[in-house]
Amino acid sequence: MSLKKRFLVTMALPYANADIHLGHLLEAVQTDIFVRFQRLRGHEVAFVCADDTHGTPIELSAARRGITPEALIAEAYENHRRDYAGFDIGFDIFYTTNSPENRRYAELIYQNLRRGGLIIEKEIDQYYCEHDRRFLPDRFITGTCPRCNASKQYGDVCEACGATYNPTELIDPHCVICNGAPVMRRSVHFYVELNKCEAFLREYINREGVLQDDMRNFVTTWINEGLREWCISRDGPYFGFAIPGTKDKYFYVWLDAPVGYISSTDRWCGETGRSVDDYWSSACDAEVVHFIGKDIVYFHTLFWPVMLKYSSFKLPGRFFIHGFLNIRGEKMSKSRGTFILARDYLGKIGHPQAAEFLRFFYGSKLMPNAEDFDFTAEELLNRANTTLSNNIGNLHHRTAVFCDRSFGGAVPDAPWDETIAAEVEDAAAAIEGHFERGEYKLAVERIHALGNRGNKYYQDGRPWESIKSDPQKAAVVMVTCVNLTKALAVFLKPIVPSISGCIERKLGVTLAWNDYAFSLRNMKMGPTEKLVRPLEKADVEPLFGAAANEPKADAAAGQIDSDYFNKVSLQVATVTAAEPVPKSSKLLKLLIDLGTEKRQIVAGIAAHYTPESIVGKQIVVVANLKPVKLFGELSQGMVLAAKNADGSLAVVTPERAADAGAPVA
Ligand code: MSP
Ligand code: ZN
Repeated sequence: MSLKKRFLVTMALPYANADIHLGHLLEAVQTDIFVRFQRLRGHEVAFVCADDTHGTPIELSAARRGITPEALIAEAYENHRRDYAGFDIGFDIFYTTNSPENRRYAELIYQNLRRGGLIIEKEIDQYYCEHDRRFLPDRFITGTCPRCNASKQYGDVCEACGATYNPTELIDPHCVICNGAPVMRRSVHFYVELNKCEAFLREYINREGVLQDDMRNFVTTWINEGLREWCISRDGPYFGFAIPGTKDKYFYVWLDAPVGYISSTDRWCGETGRSVDDYWSSACDAEVVHFIGKDIVYFHTLFWPVMLKYSSFKLPGRFFIHGFLNIRGEKMSKSRGTFILARDYLGKIGHPQAAEFLRFFYGSKLMPNAEDFDFTAEELLNRANTTLSNNIGNLHHRTAVFCDRSFGGAVPDAPWDETIAAEVEDAAAAIEGHFERGEYKLAVERIHALGNRGNKYYQDGRPWESIKSDPQKAAVVMVTCVNLTKALAVFLKPIVPSISGCIERKLGVTLAWNDYAFSLRNMKMGPTEKLVRPLEKADVEPLFGAAANEPKADAAAGQIDSDYFNKVSLQVATVTAAEPVPKSSKLLKLLIDLGTEKRQIVAGIAAHYTPESIVGKQIVVVANLKPVKLFGELSQGMVLAAKNADGSLAVVTPERAADAGAPVA
């Protein structure tokens, strides 16, 4: 076994204004598997997390509900802790960024950036609402995206096309509180001059092991494009920490959020008689490991290292950056209403091992890359049943039952099969490497293969025959099967601790990593419990029925009700401009007028209509279709057309002139 190491492991701090959903849990499970694995090997791990409690979304959520931000975050705190506990996420501390410790560290880091000459002040134009008497940062302002013309976008980023911009670039801006038009005001803000740290950042992100390959290239591109100044201040009123030495200026939430990693560690160290320096001082020998999603890489790999460096804190040694959990190919998100909440998952799946099944599903998917993957009922069932129930569960059960019947509930006294023991040694080395590198999917594949091997060994060994003719031979088979089951319990323990716990109870041991090695013979075992009850389709139906969010067509008659039809918003639109989409022979890019807004739609009609022949026409569009990108072009809707048997198309138009935007019903 390698020397004892010390890890400080974190996952991203969830925002306090939202409930925990299966996307958050992907990250939590990914992190928890790593933590449990390192602990199993005997390393010392601090697993630290907290709620991210500051900033405008929290303020707005609280305002909408008519409660204070403090009340909102207190409620979220209880919910979040309970949700994570439901999935056995083994934090050492789950704290909050709205803490005295966090204020202290945020101020310290800010002062050190200042001393390091990295902070400049600039006076800028900003929108201000005279009615609400406040500046309108980020989410306090909406308008039309200056890049793609999508309406109702926030001040910092467009959810339709992904562009980021300054609030002052928004077209037709509105205050989200009173919907009034804001005015421009000048205000002083603080900026971190990141470009001064370019050399350091280039060196840092290229350090061995810090970033996955896919991400290193990504971050390098950002640096190549030029590091922009980072604005770390917001005008009051703002729910956050006041910037020392200023009047009514606050730290932007992304300044104090990652500081929560340190302040939570500090709190935990205080509670348990440890020293925070052993985890965060640049001189200590701990390794800081961050698990984050691909959407927050910029903050963690460019801003955060600079903040740490100027205060002589430990730089992160490794990032594990994951992609998104999708449901039917779409990111789960609150704003799109396509998420499954943690509590609904547990509440609706009628199976006591539902949490372990989700952990196992994630384990069997995750690799150290940022690829997205889909959550489906079929795969959840398949993973739970194929590996956990039919393979591992079966081996455990036939082994336990046979020992109960033929050896009085004991591991018989016989040598084990050395070939199988050697195969387990090989597998252990491989699986250890897979866990260490975050290749959980490969670990699960290897575990599954080993389970298959065990079942085949039992089958071929035919102990139910030899028990009569040659009991010693049956004893060898059973000793081997018991030890193999023990090894499987070790390998599975980081992923499904409760299922491994069941085997531990049977054997009367608490397993550590090295216990994969064969060691048991001539020993009494505990009572036999069923390891896994198969997951039935009926168990998951209540969940997926709800998440599907789709009214069901009457399957028998092929008929739908009017509610179903009414979900589709059909509108008349006037085509105001049209042009071909480069590199596509089928697509035309149309600019359409819906009366109250203009939009771009990409339609597959280029083979049937020239741009000139379609401009000026009135057409019918599906107006509430989710925006998609086709050939890099944003399409916000769908054009209705009749499709003839010969493949030709006829675009649907109203029979006489109609208002642009008129609903079609
Ligand atoms: N509060 C910030 C993080 C601050 S860290 C100093 C934040 N919070 S979040 O609640 O929006 O997201 C928390 C984590 O969950 C992020 O790493 C994010 O990538 C992850 N996920 C949120 N939705 C997700 C999916 N649908 N799938 C996978 N993970 C996603 O960002
Ligand atoms: Zn206003």
